[in-house]
Amino acid sequence: MSDYQGHAGGYQTAKRQPWRTYLEQPSALALLGDLNGLSVLDLGCGEGHYTRLLKQLGASQVLGVDLSSDMIELARQQERSHPLGIDYRVCDAGALTLQTKADLVFAGYLFNHARDRDELRAQFSTVSGLLRPGGRLVALNNNPDDPPSNFEAGRPYGYSKSINGPLVEGAAIHYRFALEDGGVFELTDYYISREVMQTLMEDCGLQQVRWPQPVLAAEGIEAMGADYWSAIMTTPPFCLIEATRG
Ligand SMILES: C[S@@+](CC[C@H](N)C(=O)[O-])C[C@H]1O[C@@H](n2cnc3c(N)ncnc32)[C@H](O)[C@@H]1O
Repeated sequence: MSDYQGHAGGYQTAKRQPWRTYLEQPSALALLGDLNGLSVLDLGCGEGHYTRLLKQLGASQVLGVDLSSDMIELARQQERSHPLGIDYRVCDAGALTLQTKADLVFAGYLFNHARDRDELRAQFSTVSGLLRPGGRLVALNNNPDDPPSNFEAGRPYGYSKSINGPLVEGAAIHYRFALEDGGVFELTDYYISREVMQTLMEDCGLQQVRWPQPVLAAEGIEAMGADYWSAIMTTPPFCLIEATRG
């Protein structure tokens, strides 16, 4: 995954933009809820931002899995300096097998890296196979309902998107994140509609699929003012997904 190999530090810095702190993270944490005593798998864990939060939310066991050895190395460095008892593994999410079933799978911006529905189906099939019956999937994903006419609207928030051609299945969407130090971090995702995602989840045994609305933390209004948030709240850059293993 060339976007992350060699650029893991850039992604880590991009996680500090205000919309991540006051919108993405509170939305994810509210949906995750109390994880006390749960066994949790973080697929596409990157450098472990959410993996550490999952452990801090009370999970008894957390395994972080990512395709990028650079991202996993950053995660392991943080585990060495501030041990939380998290295990990390380099593996393709679509090919992961484990001996035990998890109570919860979290996937932060993993599914939007699937280039086509076969790759996405393999990831949902992994999730379904690794969850115990009744276990939950909670995911963050780039918002598939964000139209190209809105792709510049993220600039005041530190990101922009671009596409060459129409928004059709498998189309590459290029993201640019402006970093605090003046640098830029770029990555590429692939478009798959919300409807196709939902059908694939259901085909793989993930039921009661929900797409909850993001929630803005009150601290975000205090820090940035209410007007700052109006455009991003109209069309957020991400969506939330929740599903249950049948
Ligand atoms: C946008 S980052 C998200 C990291 C973290 N989950 C977060 O929300 O901050 C996406 C991560 O997914 C990983 N990834 C992409 N395709 C993958 C795959 N097939 N299997 C496992 N990890 C993958 C990338 O290496 C990258 O670390």
